[in-house]
Amino acid sequence: MNNLDQISPVSSEVNADGHLVLGGVDVCALAAEYGTPLYVMDLQTLRARCQAYQEGLSARYPDVLVAYAGKAHLSTGLLLVLAQEGLGIDVVSEGELYTAFQAGMAPEKIVFHGNNKSIAELVLAVKYDIRLVVDNLHELENLSGVCAKLGKNARILLRLKPGIEAHTHSYIRTGQVDSKFGMDLPDMCKALETISQAPWCDFLGFHGHIGSQIFQLEPYQDLVAFMIDQMILARDVYGLLVKEVDLGGGLGVLYTEADSPPAISSYLRLLATSLKTSCEAKNLPLPKLIVEPGRSIVGQAGVTVYTAGTIKPIPGIRDYLFVDGGMADNMRPLLYQAEYTWVVANRMLEQPVHTYTIAGKFCESGDVLAKDINLPEVSVGDYIVSYTTGAYNYSMASNYNRFCRPAVVLVGDGQSRVLVKRETVLDVLRFDEWETA
Ligand code: LLP
Repeated sequence: MNNLDQISPVSSEVNADGHLVLGGVDVCALAAEYGTPLYVMDLQTLRARCQAYQEGLSARYPDVLVAYAGKAHLSTGLLLVLAQEGLGIDVVSEGELYTAFQAGMAPEKIVFHGNNKSIAELVLAVKYDIRLVVDNLHELENLSGVCAKLGKNARILLRLKPGIEAHTHSYIRTGQVDSKFGMDLPDMCKALETISQAPWCDFLGFHGHIGSQIFQLEPYQDLVAFMIDQMILARDVYGLLVKEVDLGGGLGVLYTEADSPPAISSYLRLLATSLKTSCEAKNLPLPKLIVEPGRSIVGQAGVTVYTAGTIKPIPGIRDYLFVDGGMADNMRPLLYQAEYTWVVANRMLEQPVHTYTIAGKFCESGDVLAKDINLPEVSVGDYIVSYTTGAYNYSMASNYNRFCRPAVVLVGDGQSRVLVKRETVLDVLRFDEWETA
């Protein structure tokens, strides 16, 4: 398998016309039918990644929950596919939670996150028996008030700061001490003290997430070791049994040939084996093992299709290729200097002979999606495709410059269907209120 196979959706093919085909559907036909920019999600890749997680974990560990990190890409239709594959979900807002409800997700398969949850969010979680990941002591205090008012118990995990440095972009690193997420050890001890005397609290265990787009397995080994230490402390000092350990998400994916993430199976083998062996060694009953993958479920499944517009050469400097989207449908190049692999959907059999810089149509000089990449000779109207846009593209899209957000379509078995409709100008104007003089 060469690297392009690991970057493009697994159903990718090239037809006799030299067109990219995804899920059995010609991408040029998709663009003509639904317009561009267009997010396309490949059903076969989605199912394969879900199965790699479900089977990879349950084959190695007795009690597991794969809670998809909804922040990576969420819609009701997409979640229905993941739910069919047995996944649960990690949510961080009312919007994500109601999407989970709309997709019929059972409360025991939901993990509710957030470092500054509102009282309304806490009420929702307690009312529907949803597992809450408590971020800080203030939240624990708020929760005790909510439980008293509702006369119900809360089911909680404590989010800990493992103090582990993962080698990834600083914006997407979360487990280190200087992070806004989670509790340090002194706060954890205070929380455990409170919990040990709180009849309103069903203590489930601990959560730790070390960051995102991670290529090494060692930090995960350290995370398990850290969790084991806290499980022993909770048991020996506070008499609290840890029933669930949530090790977050973060496994990286290939955006370009320079990336080298471990296989899902190696990552899961490491988590399951080290948790199992360490628990056995320390006489701890095996907790439920929860993981929260986002990017590694949806990243490779997605591509974005753009139409080529103006080509503007700056002699001796670079040739700009303008596309009909940009920073509002993909924030990641601007925010994290992220790089992607690009192809021309209607010229898949042509050689990459021309160096282009792909820029969007937003009013910002930084609205550049790719710098100096090689593509076949492009003409106006060609369909330009960026691979690996399934994660953190649609979910981070904005209406900057009052552009409409693109549609999301799912392809598989030779068919396509809309998961999210394209916005119209009326949608963009929908919330305006004004008075005429
Ligand atoms: N669990 C928690 C608590 C998280 O904060 C995250 C991601 C995940 C799970 C899922 O991580 P994943 O498996 O997707 O790496 N916008 C950034 C990524 C931000 C990640 C935020 N948290 C990007 O585009 O790279």
